[in-house]
Amino acid sequence: MNMQVLSGDRPTGKLHLGHYVGSLTQRVKLQENYPVNILIADTQVLNNNIAKAKDVKENTLELMRSYLAVGLDPKKVNFILQSEILEIFELTNYLSNLVTLPMILRNPTIKAENENYNSTINMGFLNYPISQTSDIILFDAEIVPVGQDQTAILEFGNDLIAKFHHHFKCNIFKHIQPLLSETPKLLGLDGKQKMSKSLDNAIFLCDSTDVVKNKINMMYTDNKHLRVNDPGQVEGNVVFSFLDVFMNDKEHLKELKNHYCKGGLGDVFLKQLLLKEIEVIIAPIREKYYNYKDGQLLEILESGTQNARIKAKQKMKQVKEVIFK
Ligand code: TRP
Repeated sequence: MNMQVLSGDRPTGKLHLGHYVGSLTQRVKLQENYPVNILIADTQVLNNNIAKAKDVKENTLELMRSYLAVGLDPKKVNFILQSEILEIFELTNYLSNLVTLPMILRNPTIKAENENYNSTINMGFLNYPISQTSDIILFDAEIVPVGQDQTAILEFGNDLIAKFHHHFKCNIFKHIQPLLSETPKLLGLDGKQKMSKSLDNAIFLCDSTDVVKNKINMMYTDNKHLRVNDPGQVEGNVVFSFLDVFMNDKEHLKELKNHYCKGGLGDVFLKQLLLKEIEVIIAPIREKYYNYKDGQLLEILESGTQNARIKAKQKMKQVKEVIFK
């Protein structure tokens, strides 16, 4: 049987171009060759901040809308709502008996959070590497597409699986392989290291053409490139860093860079070109995005969750058999 893929997202808000190049296109490709599961981690959101609970419903719909609009196909992808699979929390409970506090505190994300918040970190957050391991192994997923920042959690997961197998003398869980995206991280509009909603430097997949245009117009280029004929700098130029990601014709891009360095190529021209390239991607997404009805989205999510529940129940039965044999 084909290896199962599982990836997850926390429903925290609208998706942007960073998500598109980082994870969404990769999933759209994967669905052609693998059974793909996408887990909406709605309970994990609360681990950071329980006050976020009020936005989770709307943001879950937002995720579903974006998934379908970018071309994820419900016939190929199983969408799972985490809070509706009780077995995830059941398995988390059993697994937590094999995890010591130092094992958790070694994790870079937890460590940083613990230090930043001076040990006021809540139990939910401390538990999140265990619960994320359950998200994965409950569905026998072997390929897990994640960002670089999540690889330590997956390593922890593999250690935990090994501990479980060793302790209960069995081999019921699959080894987890992280799959990193090939595309480099997309910078923010302001040139900051990462495009992110909270940094207010993102182009959202549902932004109108006018909004995208205004955002591109605000991008930094080279502040010494005052007149069109002045020689310009490509390095550190945010518009070029976006063109690197979005322009397919790399030969043409190389020529543009040479021209810019010599002088004679204006920022306005480059920004118009970037708008055109981004619109090629976003226009069809935007069109679909606004056409889904909430009911339709929820139906797809419920049906995927039901399939997942059947698998989760079977797996949990197997887990309890090896624990209580
Ligand atoms: N922690 C992941 C993130 O913030 C989301 C997530 C939850 C996840 N469960 C998962 C990712 C299982 C991969 C597998 O991006």
